[in-house]
Amino acid sequence: MDLTTTYLGFELANPIMVGACPLGTDADGIRRLEQAGASAIVLPSLFEEEIRAAAMTQFELESTGAGFAEATLGYHPDPDGYHVGPDRYLDHIGKVKAAVSIPIMGSLNGTTAGGWTSYAKKIEDAGADALELNVYYLPVDAKETGEEVERRAVEIVQAVKADVKIPVAVKLSPFFSSIPHLGKKLQDAGADGLVIFNRFYQPDIDIEDLDVVPNLRLSTTDELRLRLRWLAILSGQLELSLAATGGAHTAVDIIKAVMTGAHAVQLVSALLIHGPEHIARTLEAISFWMQEHDYQSIRQMQGSMNLTRTPNPKAFARANYMKMLDSWEM
Ligand SMILES: Cc1cc2nc3c(=O)[nH]c(=O)nc-3n(C[C@H](O)[C@H](O)[C@H](O)COP(=O)(O)O)c2cc1C
Repeated sequence: MDLTTTYLGFELANPIMVGACPLGTDADGIRRLEQAGASAIVLPSLFEEEIRAAAMTQFELESTGAGFAEATLGYHPDPDGYHVGPDRYLDHIGKVKAAVSIPIMGSLNGTTAGGWTSYAKKIEDAGADALELNVYYLPVDAKETGEEVERRAVEIVQAVKADVKIPVAVKLSPFFSSIPHLGKKLQDAGADGLVIFNRFYQPDIDIEDLDVVPNLRLSTTDELRLRLRWLAILSGQLELSLAATGGAHTAVDIIKAVMTGAHAVQLVSALLIHGPEHIARTLEAISFWMQEHDYQSIRQMQGSMNLTRTPNPKAFARANYMKMLDSWEM
């Protein structure tokens, strides 16, 4: 069975990648993911905030001496935590590259075009094969227009693409007024791929302590549907690579994402729950299903259910809305 696919110009052994998450923090763990069949790995993000904090400390050390720098320690990335700071991040890329042979993608996470985007070049120089840009941004200011929000993402891509030769994918949220139009603008700005979609972690409210409580929940398969719809809409209209992230847990999920147009599917929650070996079991199940249904290759399935090829394009768009509501029986 031919499970190969092309993502960001890389010939991948199969569509299952590991998305950015703590599984990418140690070289041994990454070796285990490769052995289980992962075709590529996105490392956890290096955050704009980490880069700015490290630059600030350096500036303070140079201009005022260590005493003042110590006073800012509260802003430092925790050296033992998930976010290790820029220097250790770049070092980590080199170690991971030496440990495995699958493509390793760095990840930069930020919201403004600025000095921190120069880390794209450092990530390239450290040996990353590609870069994922996570433009995780929540507009909270009533004065900021939708166009300005989109411009942020486009300018980040332009700045990064001017600096690096490796392929660049953009991880987007679903909260834009026209995702296809933004996708086209990002493609025109040089993006090589889109990763859809970021999950926004919804904070909860503690009504006793009157506090906002961050709480991270892993995804469920239900979340995949939003991705399937937009993969179907984007695939066939855009030339860049498409990856799904969010809600892909099983072989069936991956087959659906591929059919709607994904070139690669990133897993995180499923691997945090079941461990790296989940990849091997899922690949086996995909092959089995394809055999049972007379598919010879992943490429044959790719985009076969997208908006331009599905027998029922209206089901992805508004026209199905009324019909779906009518289908409810009391
Ligand atoms: C513990 C944890 C850490 C994550 N860290 C990052 C990160 O550093 N950068 C990023 O772009 N996404 C990060 N993500 C989001 C995942 O890459 C992924 O997009 C999301 O979990 C949806 O995929 P899933 O349904 O397979 O979990 C993280 C997710 C989890 C659960």
